[in-house]
Amino acid sequence: LDNGLALTPPMGWLTWQRYRCKVDCNTYPDDCISEQLIRRTADIMAEEGYLEAGYNYIAIDDCWLEKQRSPDGKLVADRDRFPHGMKQLAKYVHHRGLKFGIYEDYGNTTCALYPGVMGHEQTDVDTLLGWDVDYIKLDGCAATPDDMKTGINFILEPRKPISLSPCEPDYGAIAEHCNLWRNWDDIDDSWASVSKIMNWFGDNQQRIQQYAGPGHWNDPDMLVIGNYGLSLDQARAQMAVWAVLAAPLLMSADLARMRPEFKEILLNRDIIAVNQDSLGKQGLRVSMKAKQHVWTRELSGDSYAVAIVNHIEGGPPQFSSLTFSEMAVPARSYTVQDLYHEEEDWILFANQNFTTRVNPTGVKFYQFVPLPSEERTRKS
Ligand code: DGJ
Repeated sequence: LDNGLALTPPMGWLTWQRYRCKVDCNTYPDDCISEQLIRRTADIMAEEGYLEAGYNYIAIDDCWLEKQRSPDGKLVADRDRFPHGMKQLAKYVHHRGLKFGIYEDYGNTTCALYPGVMGHEQTDVDTLLGWDVDYIKLDGCAATPDDMKTGINFILEPRKPISLSPCEPDYGAIAEHCNLWRNWDDIDDSWASVSKIMNWFGDNQQRIQQYAGPGHWNDPDMLVIGNYGLSLDQARAQMAVWAVLAAPLLMSADLARMRPEFKEILLNRDIIAVNQDSLGKQGLRVSMKAKQHVWTRELSGDSYAVAIVNHIEGGPPQFSSLTFSEMAVPARSYTVQDLYHEEEDWILFANQNFTTRVNPTGVKFYQFVPLPSEERTRKS
């Protein structure tokens, strides 16, 4: 969507994966979908480095509504969980320097059976914009793909990034009307889910890569880093592949309980810079040798980001030796930077193979920066 927004993949936080449809605030006082959760998270994003690193959207997914519209047909936020209403909450979020996102569904109901937009299009758009919402995630439960087309055309407002949730085969049309769109299944808090999504994106890359670029992005779904299901290595792998894919970086975790080693992954500036690279080119899975999947993204300045993911689920760190062509990187001399900062920078010459070792269900993530030409001739 050419609205001047999302020129790099959007970054932020979204409730769904971590908080799902928890609406019972007595049993789940810290985990229910409520204004208290949004305020608490906004405070942490603003105060603990997330906003500074680029995570500037905070968005509520499903389950924020009253089950009934108001007598005059308007959407109403749940009165117990959002006692001050959405306009006030948006104001709070804006005061914290963040942008405010909200979820709706174009069908008659949302997936969790709260009121949907269909039949109330104008009223609902007016309501959401009246609350100063900056971002709309439009889901497609109870709507056909054709309905969705009508829906996105209608709800489209030139200044709002629209994230479209359901799978939709017509990516060309979607890219015209949305800034990002989900391509496939919902993510879960597990390596099985994360690696399945990686594989889907690898298997379908020829079809979908062309639709990604400044203003319009494929979305493999939220970052689950910092929850329960991923090891440190697996969390690093998700962050690396999402950076290569030019994916939206929408965290879905409890920032108040985030362990420092996971926070470090989410705030890794070098990896965020890869994700946000101005060329805006979605990277590809370029080889799969002995369950070592290599993901390469071309960056501005003739640099390349290369992630090697080891899909073997046991044993010692796996040795890999890769040619330039296996990495889809032009053969020349580079400074190689380990984006997780465990290795010192080193130099790879054009006539050498690249070698590394990758932990089981882990990643090594490098940036190849071309050596300046004088240095190349001097050293090679
Ligand atoms: C399906 C979407 O894919 C999820 O991300 C989430 O928005 C749920 N619907 C909410 O019901």
